[in-house]
Amino acid sequence: MISQDSINKLLEQVDIVDVVSNYIPLKRSGSNFVGVCPFHDDRNPSMSVSSKLGIFHCFSCKAGGNAIKFIMDYENLNYPEAIEKLANISNFTLEYTSSKRDFKEDKKVLEKVGAFYKSLLYKNQNALNYLYSRGFDDELIKCFDIGYAPISQNTINLLENEKIEPNEALDVGIIKQGENGFYASFIERITFAIKNHTGKLVGFGGRTITNHPAKYVNSPESRVFNKSKILYAYDIAKSSIYNKKEIIITEGYMDTIMLHKAGYTNAVAVLGTALTEQHLPLLRRSDAKIVLCFDGDSAGISAAIKSSKLLSINELDASVVIIPEGADPADLVQSGNLKRLENIIENRIEAGEFLIRDIASKYDLSRPIQKQKALEEIQQFTFSLKPIIADSYMTLVAQVLNIDIARFGLSRNQRKENIKIEIEKNQIISSSKDYLELSILKTLLVDNRFYKSGYDMCNEEMFARHFDIFRLIKLKKYDDEQIRELLIDEDIEVINSQSQFFKGIGILKEKYYKILLEDIKHSNDPQKMEKIMKIQNALRKLRGVK
Ligand code: CTP
Ligand code: MN
Repeated sequence: MISQDSINKLLEQVDIVDVVSNYIPLKRSGSNFVGVCPFHDDRNPSMSVSSKLGIFHCFSCKAGGNAIKFIMDYENLNYPEAIEKLANISNFTLEYTSSKRDFKEDKKVLEKVGAFYKSLLYKNQNALNYLYSRGFDDELIKCFDIGYAPISQNTINLLENEKIEPNEALDVGIIKQGENGFYASFIERITFAIKNHTGKLVGFGGRTITNHPAKYVNSPESRVFNKSKILYAYDIAKSSIYNKKEIIITEGYMDTIMLHKAGYTNAVAVLGTALTEQHLPLLRRSDAKIVLCFDGDSAGISAAIKSSKLLSINELDASVVIIPEGADPADLVQSGNLKRLENIIENRIEAGEFLIRDIASKYDLSRPIQKQKALEEIQQFTFSLKPIIADSYMTLVAQVLNIDIARFGLSRNQRKENIKIEIEKNQIISSSKDYLELSILKTLLVDNRFYKSGYDMCNEEMFARHFDIFRLIKLKKYDDEQIRELLIDEDIEVINSQSQFFKGIGILKEKYYKILLEDIKHSNDPQKMEKIMKIQNALRKLRGVK
C-alpha cells in the first residue's frame, strides 16, 4: 500500500494547475485557471482549477476533486494507479507500507507469472504447433505476449520458488482455492496477456489445447482486473486507433490478433462480454469511429445488437460488420481471403440502421398488426435518441416498413420535450444562488477564526436556499461536490471582517424569523399568539445585536 503520509506529501508538492495543463490548455482567470472540461461535451471553458485549493471543478458537469482524481478520471485509472502516475510525472518517490500487499506488488506477481508462461511456450512443441496451425508467427507471439500455462503443480511450484504467498497469487487470480488446496487458474492453456490501456499487465486469458470443455477462461475479477472495462490489445492498437480515427472491436483474442496480422492494427476485443457502460470512457477518449466486427452466429448477433444500442444511445458513432456463414475474422485471415475480409469490413452498416433493420426482420410486415408492432419497437429505440439523430432514420424506416413515416415520427414528441424544458427552467430558477448565504458558508469553511463562534450561531433553517451545504459542513463532508464548487467559485467572497460576518448572519436570521412570522400569522395554531411574541422577541434581540 502507498503510505497515506506519502500521498499527502505528494499532493502538497504538486501544483494541480501543472498537472491539469499536461492534459488540457488552461487560461488564467482571477486567481484560478479555467479550461474546457474534458469530462463532458463542453463548449465554453466550464472547468476551474485552483492552485491554492489544489482542486479542479467543472461548474457544468460537476466533475472535480484533487490532482489524483483528475488523473483517475482522465486516464481511466484506479486510485493507486493514478497516484503512481502523478508521482511519476512529478518526479516524486512514493513510500509504500510494507505490511500490506499493494497494487505494485500485485503487478510484480502478474509480471513474474507472465514471464514464466512466456518462457514455457517455446518449450512446449504442442502449444507452439497449435499456434502456428492457427496462423500465428513468432512476431505475433512476441507482440501479444503469448505464453503457455503448464499443469497446475508447475505453476504452484513457481510461486513457491519465487516466494509468492498463496494469498498474493489468489488476489490477482493466478490460483484458486479448492477443496484440496490451491490450484492454478490456467492449466495447459495458451495464455494471452491482458493489459489495461496503459499497457500494464492485469490478467490472462487462456485457450485450452487439450479440448477442455471451457474453451477459454479469463482471470477472475480482482482489484487489478475488471473485464467489463478492458478492451483487449488496446495498448497495442492505441496509436493506430488515433491515426485511423477508427477502432475495430471483435469478440475474441484470436480475431483481434489475426486482424492485426492482416494489417488491421486498430483491432481490440471485448473479453467474453458485450460492450458495457464501463467501456465508454475509453472509447470516447480517442474520438474514433467504432466498427463492431462480430461473428455471424446468434451470440455474435445478439452482442452486436446490445452493443449497437449502447453506442447509439450514448451518441458514439458506430457501425456493425457481421461476418457471414458462421465464420469469424480469424478464419478469414487464416484462409488468406483478405480481399473478402476487406469487402466485408467496408460494407459495414451504421449501428442505428443495423438495429432498425434487425427489428423489422423479426416481424411479418405483410400483417398489419405486426407492422404496427414493428413501428412501435423501432420508435422505442429512436425515442431514446436525440431528435436530429432519430429523424435521420426517417427515410430508412419509411422504406423498410413501407409507410408514410412523417405521419408517425421517430423523435420524442414535442410536447414531452416542452414539458421537460419547463421543468428544467424551473429547476434553474429554484436553484439560483443566494450570495450572502454562500459567503457565510464559505467563510465558515475557510476561516477558522470564525468557525467555532460563527458556527454555533448558525442553524440549518437560516440557510433557506443552501441548507444542504450547511448540513454537509455539519457532517464534515468536505469532499462533496457542492463544497468543492463553493470553495472554487471566485464569485463567492470570504468575509474577512468579524463584524461583517456577524452582521450577515443577523440578516439571514432576520429573514428566517420574518418568514416564520408570516407562516404563523396565517396559521390556525392555538398557540399562535405566544409564538408570535417569541419570534418578535428574538427579532428585537437580533436588532440589538446588530
Ligand atoms: N469466450 C469465453 N469462454 C468461452 C468461449 C468464449 O470467455 N467458453 C470468449 C473469449 O474471450 C473468446 C470469445 O469469447 O475469445 C469468442 O469466443 P469464440 O467465438 O467461441 O472463440 P474464437 O475467438 O472463435 O476462438 P477460437 O477461434 O480459438 O475457437
Ligand atoms: Mn474462431
